[in-house]
Amino acid sequence: MAPPFRNVKGTRDLLPPETALWAAVEGTARRVMKAYGFAEIRTPILEETELFVRSVGETTDIVGKEMYTFQDRKGRSLTLRPEGTAPVVRAYIERRLGERPGSVRLYYIGPYFRYERPQRGRYRQFHQIGAEILGEPGPEADLELLLMLHRLLRELEFEDVEVRLSTLGDESSRAAFAEALREYLEPRADRLGEESRRRLEKNPLRILDTKHPEERQLLAEAPEMSRFLTAASRAHFERVLAGLERLGISHRIDPRLVRGLDYYTHTVFEIAAAGLGAQDAIVGGGRYDRLVADLGGEPVPALGFAIGLDRLLEVLPEAFRHRQRAAPPALVVAAGEVEPMEAVALAEELRDGGVAAIAELSGRSLKAALRAASRQELTTVVILGDEEARRGEVTVRDLRRGEQRSVSRAGLAATLGGSEG
Ligand code: HAM
Repeated sequence: MAPPFRNVKGTRDLLPPETALWAAVEGTARRVMKAYGFAEIRTPILEETELFVRSVGETTDIVGKEMYTFQDRKGRSLTLRPEGTAPVVRAYIERRLGERPGSVRLYYIGPYFRYERPQRGRYRQFHQIGAEILGEPGPEADLELLLMLHRLLRELEFEDVEVRLSTLGDESSRAAFAEALREYLEPRADRLGEESRRRLEKNPLRILDTKHPEERQLLAEAPEMSRFLTAASRAHFERVLAGLERLGISHRIDPRLVRGLDYYTHTVFEIAAAGLGAQDAIVGGGRYDRLVADLGGEPVPALGFAIGLDRLLEVLPEAFRHRQRAAPPALVVAAGEVEPMEAVALAEELRDGGVAAIAELSGRSLKAALRAASRQELTTVVILGDEEARRGEVTVRDLRRGEQRSVSRAGLAATLGGSEG
């Protein structure tokens, strides 16, 4: 019979044992980011729609066709956050976080929403681990961010990742490039689709997003950003590159790297992992020196990244998965005349001793309980029978080896590898 309800298209239930890996990845990220001075921020999932229109940009795919936007009962336009940077900047301005001494380093972990066509590595509810630094103008901050990502990916046992980066320069570099792109494309506008023609007027840089093969061909001959960089912008990028060399982070300059959000300036980057096919970016980020001012704050330079957790989990290396595989809990079974409540009490004693344990509660026979335990891939069963109870002992059965032995109840937790206290 078909179930009466199904999850919404593009969303997923994350189930055990996979959820343990999610938690392990998140725990590793929290530890690494803390070591770089980041603290957690949790912003609401709902924001005013205008926040994303003004930051991500009106002509982007995200704002133009991917947002979950609706009116609440009072007619306000609200949006399920499609990304994390704009909400952090909103909070930074609204809560005056810039008044604290030093730069502000924040990270976040949570769900985001984009109405995209679901496929492998692309969901309508997906999850990000993101980090933002506000108040650091220098290229060393760009480097620290990349260094932190490098460390995190190494701790997750990734070997085959590619850092691709480019620069969009400052405002005047971008304006000069946008103008050159418009000059190149206008006489060729008959080869552009309807959407790109609209972008040509409003925001020519967004045309670089296109996936149409014919438009891509046209763009292959278009002027490149690097020609329009101001001296200061070029110097910033060169110091980032020199730092990557100095710190031994391999990378590739990709002058045609496009990010799907309008707020970037200077350094932009993506990190791709092998094995993901078309949707291979597991990290995207960059600098956004104008955004805080654009959203009504002081002109504060800033930068950040977001890791796509769903994608990262799909290619999480076996070496990390292996490390996380915890020993299953011991099953405690009361046999003979011993009351099931005694199994509950013994399981609790084991947990006091640092051993994960579950008590057999079903009241089935010892034989049936052992059979069920093998099917659940449990490895250790503790049997509390009449005889043993009298002697202050229990039987420990190793299901993999098919062996069993008597152990004193007092020494049981230590035998099972628990840590006292
Ligand atoms: P983004 O490149 O749009 O950047 O997203 C970052 C990552 O989120 C992507 O590389 C991808 O791994 C993941 N992602 C995005 N959309 C989906 C989806 N539909 N399904 C699965 N994964 C997805 C940002 O969001 C910026 N806020 C990053 C940033 C922070 N820039 C500066 N600070």
